[in-house]
Amino acid sequence: MAFYSEDIIEEVRQRNPVVDVIGSYIHLQKKGGNYFGICPFHNEKSPSFSVSPSRQAYHCFGCGKGGNVITFVMDYENCSFPEAMDILAKRAGIDLPKQEYTPQQKKDADLRTTLLSMHKDAALFYVHELRSEGGKIGRAYFNRRELTEETIRSFGLGYASQHNDALYRYLKEKGYTDEQLKESGLVTLKETGVYDKFWNRVMFPIMDVNNHVIGFGGRVMGDGEPKYLNSPETKIFEKSRNMYGLNVARRTKESYILVCEGYMDVISMHQAGFTNAVASLGTAFTEQHGTLLRRYTEEVILCYDNDGAGRKAILRAAPILKGAGLHVKVLNLMPYKDPDEFMKNLGPDAFRERIRDAVNVFLFETACMREEYDFKDPAEKAAFFNKAANRLAKEFTDPIERNAYTEAVAKQYGIEFDILKRQVSQIGNQIGLTKREEPEPQAESGLQPASALPRKKKESGNVAAEKMVLTYLSDAPQVYAAVEKWLKPSDFSDELMQETASALFEQLKTGKVDISKMMDRFLENDRHDEVSAILNSRFMADADDAERRGAFSDAVRRILLENCSRAAESCEDPMLAMELLKKKQDIQNLKLF
Ligand code: CTP
Ligand code: MN
Repeated sequence: MAFYSEDIIEEVRQRNPVVDVIGSYIHLQKKGGNYFGICPFHNEKSPSFSVSPSRQAYHCFGCGKGGNVITFVMDYENCSFPEAMDILAKRAGIDLPKQEYTPQQKKDADLRTTLLSMHKDAALFYVHELRSEGGKIGRAYFNRRELTEETIRSFGLGYASQHNDALYRYLKEKGYTDEQLKESGLVTLKETGVYDKFWNRVMFPIMDVNNHVIGFGGRVMGDGEPKYLNSPETKIFEKSRNMYGLNVARRTKESYILVCEGYMDVISMHQAGFTNAVASLGTAFTEQHGTLLRRYTEEVILCYDNDGAGRKAILRAAPILKGAGLHVKVLNLMPYKDPDEFMKNLGPDAFRERIRDAVNVFLFETACMREEYDFKDPAEKAAFFNKAANRLAKEFTDPIERNAYTEAVAKQYGIEFDILKRQVSQIGNQIGLTKREEPEPQAESGLQPASALPRKKKESGNVAAEKMVLTYLSDAPQVYAAVEKWLKPSDFSDELMQETASALFEQLKTGKVDISKMMDRFLENDRHDEVSAILNSRFMADADDAERRGAFSDAVRRILLENCSRAAESCEDPMLAMELLKKKQDIQNLKLF
């Protein structure tokens, strides 16, 4: 990290305690000396993300991500090292010295900054156009859609005129270069010249959770194709990492977020007081959307259009959201097509009622499934109930919940509760059995989220021993004295393990262990996750003190013996072989404590 002095990096780290910073992003709960929360980097239901105040570091036992406060901000905000430094310095009120970027980093950071300011300028331009004489038709359109002045202002809605190069000329005048404009997606380069991407449309700026404008959607003001035109993905606009309206919805006090399809749905809902509404940005729902939402809420209510496409979208999004650990409900908009229409016709009170009546998506999925079976045919009817029983057994692990849904299905589709219930528990038992026989049923059983992590490679006993040793040393530095003369970094098996050992031993020698500082060193080659895993041996986390000491001694012996044997095997000098034999005995008799 040549471009920031170690001192300044250290100051930024020290003035941003890891628990405070991470705690401001995700909910943390104290457990012993550490804090735990739901990992923001992968989909999970129970917290395996740990934050250690003593180490000033975090580690997720689920997905293996780990590092210090700087790497956290980089990963969470999806930003570069200098940007993370910026955020953290600001947070702590530290003035960063200027000009410490490498040329490439400066270029990247500059381009992002430029694109952000360009989008801000463009948004202001469209707003200005809406308010100008030529913007009349834009204003009329919004009026027709019953948007208030206040709504138009708060969503920063604008207007792109008929001139197909108005924005281009404006931005050029502001000093942006063609090269920068090309990267923004706001203009199109053609043989005949450069043209605005958006013209003759009303404009919806898209903001990230920090209220930066990162893209636009533009709607035709009547009929015409395409109805909406959206910014392409750029350096600052990643569709699956953002949701329309989330910059506002994230601050909601409600325990759920409303997810709908369109810009206008979000805007109508916010205008009606439902400021916890968001929409995916004209793209299919992704796992990243799920993870993103899970950062802000535990429950999602899908308010998709009441048509075939909306229905399909629900069936697609539901497993993804469930996989992210969210409770998912479906809101019934009948007889209206979308939330916007519903709100206009029935208003917020009726909508609130529909929120109250929203059903678990399971019942929605079951209703969709029902349509595939002809109940006049007994065989098909039986097949339906078997499938339903199967899903009840797999999806609800909580017996009370399972019972309640079994009852609901029985009632709704006309089968005796007891019969269905028996079938469900039979299947439940079978799953239980197979689960015990095969250690990892995972994927297709449906019990695990679709996003279940790739199975971990089983590590060799030696690697496990090495991790254990380094984990323990980083937690109990006083132990180092006992092994100092035996254990060298070169005793560890691979390069990264050796580098970690050498960094740790350096600190142990000075008596000042600072894991968080150590992480800086692995930030450059982007190996902090792996180093974090090395320093967070799972076994050590679960063991008590005596066990840890015992395991540590065993592990040290194991590593030394293994190395000794390897040396002896390849040794051709008989004198040296004798020595190695003697050393082996010493190790076997080695008593560390
Ligand atoms: N969409 C899009 N491109 C299109 C059509 C739709 O990106 N050609 C996206 C937009 O984000 C839109 C959402 O899909 O908001 C839902 O589409 P649709 O239901 O057709 O639009 P509405 O939101 O209902 O828009 P409006 O009420 O303005 O007709
Ligand atoms: Mn719609």
